[in-house]
Amino acid sequence: MADPTVLIEIHDGVATVRINRPDKLNALNTSVRTGLREAFERIAADPTIGAVIMTGAGEKAFVAGADIEELSRLDEGSGRRFADEGQALYNRIESLDRPVIAAVNGYALGGGCELALACHIRIASSSAKFGQPEVNLGTIPGYGGTQRLTRLVGKGKALEMILTGEAVDAQEAHRIGLANAVVPPADLMATAERMARTIMTKGPRAVAHALRAVQDADERHLSGGLEAEAALFGQCCGTDDFREGTAAFLQKRKPQFRNA
Ligand code: COA
Repeated sequence: MADPTVLIEIHDGVATVRINRPDKLNALNTSVRTGLREAFERIAADPTIGAVIMTGAGEKAFVAGADIEELSRLDEGSGRRFADEGQALYNRIESLDRPVIAAVNGYALGGGCELALACHIRIASSSAKFGQPEVNLGTIPGYGGTQRLTRLVGKGKALEMILTGEAVDAQEAHRIGLANAVVPPADLMATAERMARTIMTKGPRAVAHALRAVQDADERHLSGGLEAEAALFGQCCGTDDFREGTAAFLQKRKPQFRNA
């Protein structure tokens, strides 16, 4: 049987959720999304878990985005549903009443950057890179990136990243507030665990209420923004440029966009 694409390990109340598709840079395919949903259902139902660390298998990638092979088959209707489902999954992670810390061990691109953004805190390895390269494929972030990145780093920097598709390294991510800290790769998991355990010494109800209160700070605007994002993502998936952008990636060539 194939290895599970999402692994969950629980040690003394800390759950580590590891996306496990290293040969495809942990790209989010259907199996990974299902595995993440199940992992967070299990965590939500287990009160002995006090904190979660989210990371990727291997040394190269946290998550290099949605699986472009699956993405390439979307049209306007299925693209809209794809965004709605991904947003629901990430909302579920963000609304957990215990802290979720992303240990970003490499590329966090597209849906991977958005996954890190849906976590409450981001610790980056010095080899990490964050980016929203969807424009290279003829589409836009669809899993909350236009909303959460803008809230975290401000409109100017968010637009720079989303419009150029260029990734920022860990130091720059730290400078702009996208990463809470940068540490050597060898210290990444220990640093994330230390922070998780610090939070777990606090009153659990206070931690849950703090998470809820901070989330409430922009909840109403967030849901309106997510709705707009999903509709626009779906529209992008109905275009010839999206077919061309995804096909060009899979064929390892430069895309020729025609504004169609
Ligand atoms: N979806 C599907 N497959 C992906 C992927 C994705 N998002 N990202 C990487 N892969 C696959 C590659 O196709 C390759 O598969 P292969 O070995 O079967 O050819 C494998 O993972 C390794 O990636 P590769 O591109 O060879 O590594 P690299 O070091 O040359 O480049 C990246 C690394 C991250 C720069 C490059 O993989 C990339 O640009 N990925 C896509 C990022 C992206 O656009 N994500 C947003 C999607 S919305």
